[in-house]
Amino acid sequence: MALTELKWSLFQAKALVCSLLVLLCLPATTGMSGWGGCLDGQDVFATIRENSPPGIVVAELMADTTMEGVHWRLDGKDAHWFLLDERNLRLNTSADKVLDRETEGPVLMAELSCHEEDTLQSVYRIMVEVLNENDNLPTFADDTVLSLIISELTPVNTVVFTVQAIDADNDKIIYSIDQTSPDAQYFRVDLPNRGEVILSKPLDYETKTLLNVTIHAAEMTTAEHFNTSTIVTINILDGDDQYPQFLPCMLLFQDETSTICTSPVYTVNVTEGNEDIVLDFSPGPIHAVDGDRGLSSPVSYAILSGDDDGHFLMDSETGEVRLIRTITDRLTTPVLELQVMAYQDDDPRKYSVATVLVRVLAVNEFYPKFDRDEYQGFVIAGKNLASLVFTYGSKALMLHVKDQDFNHDFNPKIHFTFSPTSNHTDIYQITHDGFLITRTDQLKPKQKHVLEVMAVDQESGEATFATVVVEVLSEGQSVPYSPLAVGRMTGCTVGKALFLSLVFTALLGCIVSMVMWLKRKHKGKRDPLERGCVAQGKHPNVSLRWFQLEPSPRTRNL
Ligand SMILES: *[C@@H]1O[C@H](CO)[C@@H](O)[C@H](O)[C@H]1NC(C)=O
Ligand SMILES: *[C@@H]1O[C@H](CO)[C@@H](O)[C@H](O)[C@H]1NC(C)=O
Ligand SMILES: *[C@@H]1O[C@H](CO)[C@@H](O)[C@H](O)[C@H]1NC(C)=O
Repeated sequence: MALTELKWSLFQAKALVCSLLVLLCLPATTGMSGWGGCLDGQDVFATIRENSPPGIVVAELMADTTMEGVHWRLDGKDAHWFLLDERNLRLNTSADKVLDRETEGPVLMAELSCHEEDTLQSVYRIMVEVLNENDNLPTFADDTVLSLIISELTPVNTVVFTVQAIDADNDKIIYSIDQTSPDAQYFRVDLPNRGEVILSKPLDYETKTLLNVTIHAAEMTTAEHFNTSTIVTINILDGDDQYPQFLPCMLLFQDETSTICTSPVYTVNVTEGNEDIVLDFSPGPIHAVDGDRGLSSPVSYAILSGDDDGHFLMDSETGEVRLIRTITDRLTTPVLELQVMAYQDDDPRKYSVATVLVRVLAVNEFYPKFDRDEYQGFVIAGKNLASLVFTYGSKALMLHVKDQDFNHDFNPKIHFTFSPTSNHTDIYQITHDGFLITRTDQLKPKQKHVLEVMAVDQESGEATFATVVVEVLSEGQSVPYSPLAVGRMTGCTVGKALFLSLVFTALLGCIVSMVMWLKRKHKGKRDPLERGCVAQGKHPNVSLRWFQLEPSPRTRNL
């Protein structure tokens, strides 16, 4: 505005000087003609508003332009904006032809010439200042309507971008942030007359990679306060502000804006004597990624502690761990705990640590196996609540499992149960040691029960199966001495039966207390490794040689 106004003032000054000259010179020229028709004219200075209605009077002339014998003419670049109408100079506009200061400029210039009998008598200047109206909205310059990229590490309280709006009417503009736009809280404008937008909140690529903010530009001083707005799209660039993360993520906390993971504990089972194997960890391979997903800096691995004996070798690039030195004694080293780290190659100060547990298991080359596929059992129906199941020769029937991985084929972690498919599990029970107990009062002589039994190695999960056929004898009948003696089975005297049942009752009491002792002993000892150690110990107060209960040491056979 200032510049055009200055130009205009200069122009007016010049024009004034000139018109004075014209006034001085003109009488001389016209005087020569001897005719007074053109004499009354003079230079015209006027002002008019832009957007003025058609035909409005711009200026009143001294001469009547319709006087006979005198011919007036408008010339010059802006002549078409004017009409001569008797003593008036009017504005030539229409609905289609609107006077716009912003396109025509601040001054319209034309020349008014006067001819008498085809002889040019005089020339006057028409200079019309076009007054401004606020008929334009501010607009954002195309190159400031932004889509920009800034780093998440951009400091708060710095200018992140500048917008610039222009107003054709040259009005003063103030900028503001639309507080209803989605990410308005990240930005502010400190100096409203400058389009500098300042970051007011830290950015975080990990939670938000794209921001949108609407900026208004409004006329400050006009009555209309015309405004415009633009949406600025800001892409956040990842900065190196996150540490490597071991995968999979052990979720500690999560909401819409953040996720906090902890490192998993990587576990693996190795067998005593294993060597030169790649460890296959659970819940997955040892793997870490840069927390700055946008940067994904390469990560390297190292064992921090726990491997003083040099059992392991970690590939620094892949995180793969090899067992390179055999662990020989699982009783002294049942589990090894390592601390491993993952660090950023480009900045090793950015690292994370995870725990690795290596459990050492006993050698397991052989399947456990029942010493026979089918056992023959006998039980005498009677009024006792419970009784052991016997086999030939009135010996207590004891299920027995061989596991060649152990000394004397004895695996202390064998657990006996009925198969899920077995019948009669309501009448029979299996003790920890492989004895069968039955509820005698539920039995009827001559019944034959087929039981499916199962033994599971609780360390390896391996299972073996067998069948027990139990024949129910009547009171007075005796248990056959051997399979060959079955045919020769004879009746039993009452006295003998009484004696036997006394023996059974005594045995039963012994078994019940033994089972309870075993339960107590194993209570709270869930860790199979610990149990393995405990199983080695002998209980001094219990001599159970008859049941072969004394567990053999769990050392290797080979
Ligand atoms: C008035 O303006 C129109 C449109 O530009 C033009 O055609 C016409 O000649 C003008 N009239 C005069 C008298 O200059
Ligand atoms: C922009 O102009 C519109 C219409 O005049 C008005 O409703 C709105 O409040 C203005 N916005 C601002 C930020 O000045
Ligand atoms: C390791 O062995 C234990 C006990 O046998 C078992 O419970 C666990 O699932 C095994 N872990 C892995 C990772 O194989």
